[in-house]
Amino acid sequence: MSDSADNDTVHTDTNNTTTNSNPAHHTVDIEDETHYFAWPKGKVLLDALLDAGVDAPYSCHMGECGACQCTVEGGETHMLANQVLSTYDIEDDQRLACQTIRDEEGPYEISYWF
Ligand code: FES
Repeated sequence: MSDSADNDTVHTDTNNTTTNSNPAHHTVDIEDETHYFAWPKGKVLLDALLDAGVDAPYSCHMGECGACQCTVEGGETHMLANQVLSTYDIEDDQRLACQTIRDEEGPYEISYWF
């Protein structure tokens, strides 16, 4: 089954707002490079990055170690689990990529500092 938001078009909805639904319109800044990637709804951010060939850091893949911590901007998200980040971190747009699901269309901007 395909996600209708993941086709390669730009469309206008009934509220007359333009939405870019290009599947690779999200960006990630990592190791001084910017990559475009697709982030399907319901998929955790880390898996979307790895699927796109981005060498994103991770270790446990369970929300317990913090190795995948990054900044996520551009829309609301939620985490499936979090044993690492404080409320302050989350309010500062920090997320665990291995647990983060997007809740909006974006485009999202992801940043890693290391
Ligand atoms: S890889 Fe350990 S918290 Fe994400």
